[in-house]
Amino acid sequence: MNGVPRPELAPRLRDALLAADYSVGVVDSLLGPTARAALQRSETTAALRRTTGGSPVATLVRLFILQTVVSRADADRALAGLTVRLAEAGLLLASGGEVRAALDCRPYADDARDWWVVSDLTPGLDGQPIRVDADHVLGLTPASTSLTQLTTRRPVARALDLGTGCGVQSLHLSTHAESVVATDVNPRALAVAAFNAALNDVALDLRAGSLWAPVAEEAFDLVVSNPPFVISPATDRRLVYRDSGLPGDRVVEEIVRGASAHLADGGWSHVVANWAIHDGRPWDERLEAWLPDDCDALVVQRDVLDPPAYVELWLKDAGRHGGPGYLEAYDAWLGWFGDQQIEGIGFGWVNLRKGGQERELLDHPYAVEQPAAPAVEAWASAQHAAVDEGSRLERRPDVVQETHGEPGAEHPETIVLRQRLGLCRARQVDTVEAALAGASDGDLTVGQILDALALLLDRDRAELATTYLPAACELVRAGFLTPV
Ligand SMILES: C[S@@+](CC[C@H](N)C(=O)[O-])C[C@H]1O[C@@H](n2cnc3c(N)ncnc32)[C@H](O)[C@@H]1O
Repeated sequence: MNGVPRPELAPRLRDALLAADYSVGVVDSLLGPTARAALQRSETTAALRRTTGGSPVATLVRLFILQTVVSRADADRALAGLTVRLAEAGLLLASGGEVRAALDCRPYADDARDWWVVSDLTPGLDGQPIRVDADHVLGLTPASTSLTQLTTRRPVARALDLGTGCGVQSLHLSTHAESVVATDVNPRALAVAAFNAALNDVALDLRAGSLWAPVAEEAFDLVVSNPPFVISPATDRRLVYRDSGLPGDRVVEEIVRGASAHLADGGWSHVVANWAIHDGRPWDERLEAWLPDDCDALVVQRDVLDPPAYVELWLKDAGRHGGPGYLEAYDAWLGWFGDQQIEGIGFGWVNLRKGGQERELLDHPYAVEQPAAPAVEAWASAQHAAVDEGSRLERRPDVVQETHGEPGAEHPETIVLRQRLGLCRARQVDTVEAALAGASDGDLTVGQILDALALLLDRDRAELATTYLPAACELVRAGFLTPV
């Protein structure tokens, strides 16, 4: 593959990167928090000032992360004399005594493991004009991090990474799946993923093809996808990493509708996605219609952009802001949204678990505990919990009660139960529901708590059960209470 090193070279590069101590921990402490924050804003100057020492790791940071020219001597020292081989292979560009990166190569880690990820160069550092080719292979992005945090990490037999790109999801999957199939339509992405697999000594079953085609008859215990979800009119400037070529949000619909056929019983699918919100139609109505009948589904809308904000975001992402044709492209995209009667674009997660029919479509633009995966798994268990008078429930330890009202008033105007962990939900409750949650310590049954509340509040016991058994069930489903 032109411009992507062959996997055979990966073990020698790995040895060199190891010898140079090119790891997340070392790079983070070399850069420090301020320069790292500047780099997050695509500014390299602060990081350049912290990497002048000439150590191998400083050279690698300058070369790959800051995209500066380094001397041939420094590059050779940092890469164990591999400069020429890596330049021939397409990772570096060497000319005279100078070397620069042709691809990005950076350390990456989870809590337990260190990896390196090769991808195309991060575009747009220091306000440079962004040039992104149609077959650009994306590196680590906020959407990929979102998906890594959303994905259940229980051991599984078979996992699928649909639209693998540089293979970052597959690296994570390889830690807890016996086998990982990774697919992509972009041959360049498959070549980069193959190199990354070899670089990290991970076995991947890489397959070319669109959507579900490469795995037509197969089922998996875990499917993840960060698909090309940008919702745009068809143009001749399609970037394959973000534009599916399908109209609107069809790519997400196809993945969500198709998931059930490729999930083993009890298997999970996690997708990060954009969806169109049509004029006057609730955001969740279309989404709900896509959900397979035989899966539990937790759909969470994390953000909504209006059409101009969305168009600006993605035109800037492609480096077109202020460039030739910017205003025309902006206008055409907005006009297309108008024609499609799209009034907003949602960003969020679609989580499916094969074997149930429970659904929740939650508009939740608030902070959540990361990683979110344990909360998503807990959600599925809670939907299947039976709650009756004999149930013993326990308040989740992170749940607190907030009261609001006039200072000095005898009774609060509102009471809110708030989770400080997990999905960090909040629920307004009345005094009975608050007392029910407060008394749920796992010892008393719901029935015993209702008996006590009926006496204490002088309320009809049967009426309390009619109102507050369903409330107890909702508190369990939303994670405020857990069955003992
Ligand atoms: C947003 S990138 C995600 C890359 C990586 N999985 C991640 O999480 O960062 C989307 C990937 O889907 C691939 N892709 C685009 N259209 C596809 C299709 N129809 N079927 C499968 N993959 C596709 C792109 O080439 C790209 O690598």
